[in-house]
Amino acid sequence: MQVALREIGNCIIRRCDLSDLISTMEINLKTLPEHYSDYFYESLLAELPEAFLVAEVDKKLVGYIMCKIEYGFSNFKKLGFVKKGHVVSVAVLPEHRRKGIGEGLVLEAIVGVKLKKSDELYLEVRCSNSDAVKLYEKLGFVIKQRLKAYYRDGEDAYLMAIEFAY
Ligand code: ACO
Ligand code: ZN
Repeated sequence: MQVALREIGNCIIRRCDLSDLISTMEINLKTLPEHYSDYFYESLLAELPEAFLVAEVDKKLVGYIMCKIEYGFSNFKKLGFVKKGHVVSVAVLPEHRRKGIGEGLVLEAIVGVKLKKSDELYLEVRCSNSDAVKLYEKLGFVIKQRLKAYYRDGEDAYLMAIEFAY
């Protein structure tokens, strides 16, 4: 049993357990065109459980966020080499959207990557995905780059990032 990190109405946000991975994959299949192998989910959970979180309503999962930690060039500091959190994927089932669950997942993932002393957190998002872009902007992410034909179908991505102060 994982402790609740945050409550939003009748929804709780908590760390993911191994037994949550099938439901997490199902939410991903229903909500996004980018899918991953079982092994990839397991390895993200093993590597960064602090920022692999699920949203639960009435014992059923309705959303998730999963992240990893990388080392590389800063999205903010010229020539800076930093520890970066990377939001690999976040989603909420359609019938549970616009209640603050997506925001809660991203905010708690920020707490998780800060526990690992990351300097920044970044992600890619489809340029047409204005709901998600608005969510990230609300939380302080800024668009740093446009990545041409980032997705398999040829769509561009925005690289969005947020910098942390300790
Ligand atoms: N229209 C306008 N603004 C929106 C919308 C919308 N439909 N949805 C979210 N927002 C913005 C608003 O600023 C909102 O704040 P407000 O309610 O105070 O106006 C803020 O985001 C927070 O909204 P939440 O209710 O917390 O977001 P929700 O729980 O609906 O989840 C999410 C948002 C995750 C983007 C959801 O729409 C979703 O699952 N979409 C499909 C999957 C997806 O696109 N995931 C992101 C891909 S990019 C990546 O994974 C790195
Ligand atoms: Zn990515």
